[in-house]
Amino acid sequence: MKQGLVRFYDEHSQPATMLDEVLQGLAARPRRIAPKFFYDERGSRLFDAICDLPEYYLTRTEMGILESCAGEVAQLTGAETSLIELGSGASRKIRLMLEAVRPKRYFGIDISRDFLRQSVESLAQDYPWLEVHAICADFMHDFDLPNIAEHGKKLAFFPGSTVGNFEPHEALAFLQRVRRMVQPSGALLIGVDLKKDPALLNAAYNDSAGLTAQFNLNLLERLRSELGAEINPQNFKHRAFYNAARGRIEMHLVSGSAQDIRLHGQRFHFEAGESIHTENSYKYSVEEFHAIARAAGLRPRQVWLDAAHLFSVHYLSVVERASLRRV
Ligand code: AVJ
Repeated sequence: MKQGLVRFYDEHSQPATMLDEVLQGLAARPRRIAPKFFYDERGSRLFDAICDLPEYYLTRTEMGILESCAGEVAQLTGAETSLIELGSGASRKIRLMLEAVRPKRYFGIDISRDFLRQSVESLAQDYPWLEVHAICADFMHDFDLPNIAEHGKKLAFFPGSTVGNFEPHEALAFLQRVRRMVQPSGALLIGVDLKKDPALLNAAYNDSAGLTAQFNLNLLERLRSELGAEINPQNFKHRAFYNAARGRIEMHLVSGSAQDIRLHGQRFHFEAGESIHTENSYKYSVEEFHAIARAAGLRPRQVWLDAAHLFSVHYLSVVERASLRRV
């Protein structure tokens, strides 16, 4: 088959196991489990279905913006580039960008090996003119992004408002790492969900079909099936709300009664109403996001919004200044 076409690198340093992280999160106060654990096979399918929901405006709005700005992105970026996708995509978004920018090389970076292999191989098949690389790495976490210094001018692409899962200070640190990865002359194209009427935000995370609830509760199913936890997912309820003071959607799993979760020989007691915090999804005004970008050494070059100002796509370039020496 076409396999040899894809260059595969493994930059995966030893991550903490899911069990370690879950045990730590259940013992913490407030209790928490990181949103990356949503995405097992069922969770990924549920997320795809969420993206098609009428209430979940993010995906379709971003796609519309990308369709209308792709030509301008290609102009800003120029020829002979490497396009680096953070979180590698079966998605239509990357195909749109590849066709508009026509980069020389594509790097897909993703934590999930199998998913990454599948998606880069289908890109290699569909775009025979493209040099395709795959890097298995957990770019959401602390260690450095892969060193691809020798690969010419770089455009990093981070769609979906996944940056909203970070705390603002983590988003800043992440943008700094991206800046180091694409410097000296590169840029970042990033999708960021905007602050808006809380009613719209609350509806997007409390859909009437109940898919977001299933997506959230699927975490407990995973604890049971993969980690052998004793837990009754029906005793927990999905809760999502916009926290205006923090500028974020919060998702929680709320215990409906006093109960215990047992995991790995440990007992975690929940009072009725006690919750596990499972996700933050920060929303930024254009100005707020620009401030974070600038602090990270990235210069806002262009920002595109949809007509209803629901979503933003930013083009940020590396600031080439002597004052920004490597830290
Ligand atoms: C993939 C993190 C952008 O925050 O909107 C969707 C995940 N959570 N519905 C988001 C999600 C609940 C999504 N991100």
